Amino acid sequence: MKKKIEALKKEKNACIMAHYYAPAEAQEIADFVGDSFYLAKVAKESTADIIVFCGVNFMGESAKILCPDKKVLMPDLTADCPMAHMVKEGKIDEMRQRFPDLAVACYINSTAEIKCQSDVCVTSSNAVKIVKALPNKNIFFIPDRNLGRYVASQVPEKNIILNDGCCPIHADVTAASVKAVMNLHKDAEVLCHPECEPEILELSHFSGSTAEIIDYAKKSDKKEFIICTEEGVAFKLMSDNPDKKFYFPSPCPVCKDMKLNTLENIFKVLENEENQVEVTEDIRTGALLPLNRMLELGK
Ligand code: 13P
Ligand code: SF4
Repeated sequence: MKKKIEALKKEKNACIMAHYYAPAEAQEIADFVGDSFYLAKVAKESTADIIVFCGVNFMGESAKILCPDKKVLMPDLTADCPMAHMVKEGKIDEMRQRFPDLAVACYINSTAEIKCQSDVCVTSSNAVKIVKALPNKNIFFIPDRNLGRYVASQVPEKNIILNDGCCPIHADVTAASVKAVMNLHKDAEVLCHPECEPEILELSHFSGSTAEIIDYAKKSDKKEFIICTEEGVAFKLMSDNPDKKFYFPSPCPVCKDMKLNTLENIFKVLENEENQVEVTEDIRTGALLPLNRMLELGK
């Protein structure tokens, strides 16, 4: 299967991009593997004619918005992020009326329609930097209350208004489950994604995006880590650090949507050029502004 995919990639000038939460088999065959910010950047700079995006809908959509002339294919079009829809209709307008100087900072984990109503996009690796750089005092941070709360703790000079959305996978990690692993591995450091609930961040030695967690573990002198994010990062963590040990809280956080990016699906969409991501031109131009602003401010 891998050989067939490699041959198709060459024949069609295609490239494969995979998020760290995609299955190991997708990460292994991908030309680019990274967190949401990295993948948005490489999609924009790519010279491929076809991008096969092994992630969830908002990622494929963002790639299509940034590169309208490319075919962006998703191995499974039903791979969706529930959090991407967690902004109630009318909420942004309501906030704009209440705070005339409001900036809407929109986590990239959101639909293109929500991005259109926002001033700037952010990812977990650049949210603090971008929110700090905004001239506005009042910031409506959507959709993730947990990342929003984390940003608020890092940027106390701003008034960050939270929205009640969250990632069900990260929000399901409990303090009790993390403490149970800590008890078993007393020397291990706890590394968590800011999509986790605040009590997990309090238990952690480090919080950051998937790429930042991977970077931290590589540079650290420690040998054992408890990882509070989706289990797909284990592939990169273990290949980078064969001498280190990585543990996950139980039940292990798994995003079932990310797992739809199988080799069979990658092969099928590349062969038939199906599952194309489509975005209407007005939505595309509306969502392009906050995405480009993120790429500019996040540099
Ligand atoms: P990052 O890629 O920014 O670490 O975000 C994690 C995530 O939940 C992606 O869906
Ligand atoms: Fe969405 Fe959470 Fe899955 Fe990321 S891990 S795609 S935020 S549901």
